Amino acid sequence: MTMKVTELVRPDLEKRSVESRDGLIVVSNRQPYEHLIHKGHPICQRTDGGLTSALDPVLKRIGGVWVAWGSGEADRSAVGPDGTIAVPPESPAYSLRRVWLTPEEIKGGYQGYANEVLWPLCHITLDRVAYRQRYWTDYVELNRRFAESVIEELRTRSRLVWVHDFHLALLPRLIKEVMPGTTVAMFWHIPWPGPDVFRVLPESREILASLLAADSVVFQTAGYARAFAECARVFVNANVNQDRGTIAFNGHTTRVTAQGVSIDMETFTSQARASQTVRLMAAFRRQIGGGPGMRIGLGVDRLDYTKGLLKRFWAIDQFFTRYPEYCGRFTFLQIAIPTRKDVDTYRRYRKRIWQTVLEINERHRSSDESLPEKWRPILYREDRIAFDLLVAYYRLADVTVVSSVNDGMNLVAKEYAASQVDESGVLLISQMAGAAEELTDALIINPYDAEGVADSIRYALEMPADERRRRMSAMRAYLQTHDLHAWAEGCLSDVGVSINRLDRMGATHASNSERTREGMEDVVS
Ligand code: F6P
Repeated sequence: MTMKVTELVRPDLEKRSVESRDGLIVVSNRQPYEHLIHKGHPICQRTDGGLTSALDPVLKRIGGVWVAWGSGEADRSAVGPDGTIAVPPESPAYSLRRVWLTPEEIKGGYQGYANEVLWPLCHITLDRVAYRQRYWTDYVELNRRFAESVIEELRTRSRLVWVHDFHLALLPRLIKEVMPGTTVAMFWHIPWPGPDVFRVLPESREILASLLAADSVVFQTAGYARAFAECARVFVNANVNQDRGTIAFNGHTTRVTAQGVSIDMETFTSQARASQTVRLMAAFRRQIGGGPGMRIGLGVDRLDYTKGLLKRFWAIDQFFTRYPEYCGRFTFLQIAIPTRKDVDTYRRYRKRIWQTVLEINERHRSSDESLPEKWRPILYREDRIAFDLLVAYYRLADVTVVSSVNDGMNLVAKEYAASQVDESGVLLISQMAGAAEELTDALIINPYDAEGVADSIRYALEMPADERRRRMSAMRAYLQTHDLHAWAEGCLSDVGVSINRLDRMGATHASNSERTREGMEDVVS
């Protein structure tokens, strides 16, 4: 099936096109900014994860409203009577409308059906699927709750809704039932499995029927889009037109394409070049000891089993066993960002991670008494990370390892390349991550083959400088043209909307960098 975004604009798409003045309604479960209580005071912080990194810059650029779950403990007191707040707090650019979920919707809908059923199912870790019928009931309610808020917004603001991710699979149909004239675009951030796996889901038909009520469904890779089309054919007998990249079902036609999510190249590159970054890099070197000769490996992930952290550590264990000359000369810094702490699988995974790191560090540190006191094979840091420090690590790392067992895209891979302004580092990407299809100049690894990954780490560390530069420079050139804004433009072009055009409307009020709140409201009203 040809799933590339094409230039094709059908007459009915033209009719559905949304005028720039209508603005955009983005909907996702996770909100971009969360109000929490820290040391007795309310604070506002940006949330973690690929979805926020991708969409926040787009909405900052074009304005609009983002509808999302108000998950923070101080969220309610921060919003106005209409449940909205202008964000980001330091320079408001768009409106965040918070949805309040009941404890059942959170437990059964988000933690249960989304995180313990759809997430492991789509990532093909079937032993972790913990299905309960009541989760489905709560998932339906969660989606209804979101639909109510979106429909209220639609009555005043816009005809274009951009729905994100697996938490909200029922939203396209719920919206269309009430407001059939609305344009609904869906982006699926995670993998989509083939029929052999999808058949595990008792509600496979309901999920597919709802997604096929959207005007477009966009996946990270052509392979996921093909798998979706196959599921649509097998489970709901939909009519798949491979040449046009469309699926007809229930009297409605949906465009189904692929467009890999990306990053804002400029943000990472300019931060990487900042003098503050150089200072942070030097400070980190001093902290770990070992001098300039110490080679550094890096991993940055949400603490999620799909990221293959244990497999990565087993590979590092292999690396030091096979190449003991690197003991005391190479250290692997792992940043693990806590996530989904209320889900059992995540708690158990975290325990195994800690235990594994302790064992590996103990084994290789005790192998030779002359090793430097400060040296650790793995430096494990479990916390959120500030943007400036993250970019300093990216620039510093000789090698960054992405070892997901399955991953829709993986933005860490792209962020690392964007921050590698010296073009001296090497990226290792799992063949199971969407990013491997785009960043073909990385070293592609199989996370299940610990010895193979160990050899790739060594290969990366010993790679001649000109090969490192050639590979990194090719990836950076690719990202220049395939950045976040190209992704957003590509996704919405399927429904006849141009983000660039929305931005030009905004530009009449203020420049990109110094946009005023007044200007943004004008764009979205
Ligand atoms: O990209 C997948 C995703 O589920 C996003 O929707 C989300 O931002 C991120 O992972 C973090 O997960 P959660 O929202 O469950 O904290």
